[in-house]
Formats: sequence, C-alpha cells, structure tokens
Amino acid sequence: MYFKLFKMSLFFWLRAFIFYPKFMRNIERILINIISKNRSSNIETYFQIIDKIILKVKNNGHKNLDSITFMEIGTGQNLILPIMLKMAGAKLVYTVDIADITVLNLIKSSLRKILKSDDFKKLLNRHDIKVKPFEGVDPESYSNVHDLLKDLGIKFIHDCDLSKPSSIDDFNYNSIDFVYSMNVFEHIPKPTYSKILLNLKSHLRNNTIHIHQVDLSDHFSHAITGMNSLNHYRFGKVLWAIISNNRYAYHNRNIKSDYDEAFSKIFDKYSSSISVLQTQGEIQQTNNFVSKVFHSTERYALKIYLEVN
Ligand SMILES: C[S@@+](CC[C@H](N)C(=O)[O-])C[C@H]1O[C@@H](n2cnc3c(N)ncnc32)[C@H](O)[C@@H]1O
Repeated sequence: MYFKLFKMSLFFWLRAFIFYPKFMRNIERILINIISKNRSSNIETYFQIIDKIILKVKNNGHKNLDSITFMEIGTGQNLILPIMLKMAGAKLVYTVDIADITVLNLIKSSLRKILKSDDFKKLLNRHDIKVKPFEGVDPESYSNVHDLLKDLGIKFIHDCDLSKPSSIDDFNYNSIDFVYSMNVFEHIPKPTYSKILLNLKSHLRNNTIHIHQVDLSDHFSHAITGMNSLNHYRFGKVLWAIISNNRYAYHNRNIKSDYDEAFSKIFDKYSSSISVLQTQGEIQQTNNFVSKVFHSTERYALKIYLEVN
C-alpha cells in the first residue's frame, strides 16, 4: 500500500514539475482532452449537493430557481453542477476558478448523462421543478469549451483568485444570491480560504446563501484500494508536505472544527453538518515523522456541509 502511495506521489510531483511553466499548461490540456476521449463524468456523486442546494433555495421562500443567480467556487474539469443548475432553471450561473482545467470531452459527457438521467428528472420532480433542456444547442458541434459554456448560459471566470481583493472586478457581486462549492475548500490552505470568505463577505449581499461540500478524506485513498480514508492523518507536517505539496495532490487535512472556526468568525448565520462518518479504523497523527495514536471522534468526519443562512 505504501509503495502505491509512493508511486502516486512521485507521479504527481513529476507531473507538477513537467507542467509547471505556464506555456506547458496548454500542452497539458491538449493531452488531457486526448486521454479523456472515453472518460465519462460520474454525475451521481453530485445528486446530494444539488438536492441540498434546491432545498435551500425553496426554504428561502423561492418557488423555483428562475430568479436565482449562482456562483460556484472552483470550476474543475466537468462542470456537472453548473449544467444541472441551468437545467433546473437557474437564472445565471457564474463559475470561478483560479485556473482553467475544463475538459471539453468531459463537459459533453456530463451533458449527455444529465440529459438522459431519469434519477436527475426524479430529483427535480420531487422539488416540483421540470427539466429545462438547452434549446438550440448541439454540444457535439463545439470544439471550444468557452463557446459551449457561453451558449449554455454559464459564465466561466478563469484565472481568478478569489482570495485576492482585485478579483471582485469580474462580477456583479450584488446580483449573486447563492454561493456554493464542491470538493474545493479541502484543496486550499486555511489562511487562503479564510481570505476568500472575507472577500466574499465584504462584497456579497448580507442575505447571500452558501453551501459548501468538503471532502475530508485522504484523496490518495480514493485510488488505492485497501487504504484507510483517514490515512493522511498518520503523517506529520513535513512528511505530508513531501508527499502532497504540489498543485495536483495538495489537500489541507483540516478537520470540521477548523472550518467551523473560520466560517463562524466571518458569518453570523453559519451552521455545519456531517454527511459521512468513518466507522472503522484507528487514527494516528505524527509529529513531523514520528507517529502517535490519538483519539477524537471528530476526526471521523469524512464529508461535511458548511452552510450560511
Ligand atoms: C477538486 S477541484 C473541484 C472541481 C469541481 N468543484 C467538482 O466537484 O468537479 C478544485 C478546484 O478549485 C480550484 N481552486 C483552488 N483554489 C482556488 C481559488 N483560490 N480560487 C478559485 N478557485 C480555486 C482549483 O483550480 C480546482 O479547479
């Protein structure tokens, strides 16, 4: 198992090194598009958060999403949530990323799957919402991601670091009703995500709603069978930095109380919940390299929701 971890870590470090120069990022994107030709998006993992988003909109007194402008933090590759929200009738969806790692083939795959999915239709039906297919847009005819997103009504703002105050120029902040993210905050160090929250707080309206889904599990364990989801807590700071401190593998190993502390400092109407708990496995943490066992039930939270309003 540790040999596999070593191999994966080495792979990410090499990748980070090869594609570090800016001009190499375009070559990387071309390669990813070629490799992703037959990859498909896993839309099911997004049902829980989309359900929560719609519920939250409804609980705030709206009949549907027609008047709601969303802002997604951390676009990623396949844009499943912006597509789902537009198909659920959202007025406008901004999606913001510090980089541009969108993959055209994956976005097309997301579209095909969501359009065909009976489970997605059922989910919307439960909320009394009808699917709005994209009229007059044939995704297969697009060879440029940005053109496709524009025609889908999704405003993609890339190369925008939300922790920097200057990023505010890109939005009409006043129009944003709902901010969400999925699997983003665990990839950002606490001082940086605190800055993002402060930046948002100072520019968004007071009643803006938030939902953020955070995956606290060891992301290496997603790919290495038999690895405990809490394995990342075994390593001390130095060893963990050696294993993961590059732009592909970084995750912050914060626990729920870290997020609670950061969010509750900034937002009055903040609450959080645990969605998945680790039920087995001993947790260890180290002091740089040396391990020591410690016990805390909170460490067992693997997936959490952070909400404002
Ligand atoms: C793991 S991906 C999540 C993608 C997407 N939300 C999903 O679930 O498919 C995390 C994304 O957050 C973006 N990100 C990291 N730091 C950011 C920042 N300061 N501002 C905006 N985006 C950021 C990364 O570039 C990356 O695309």
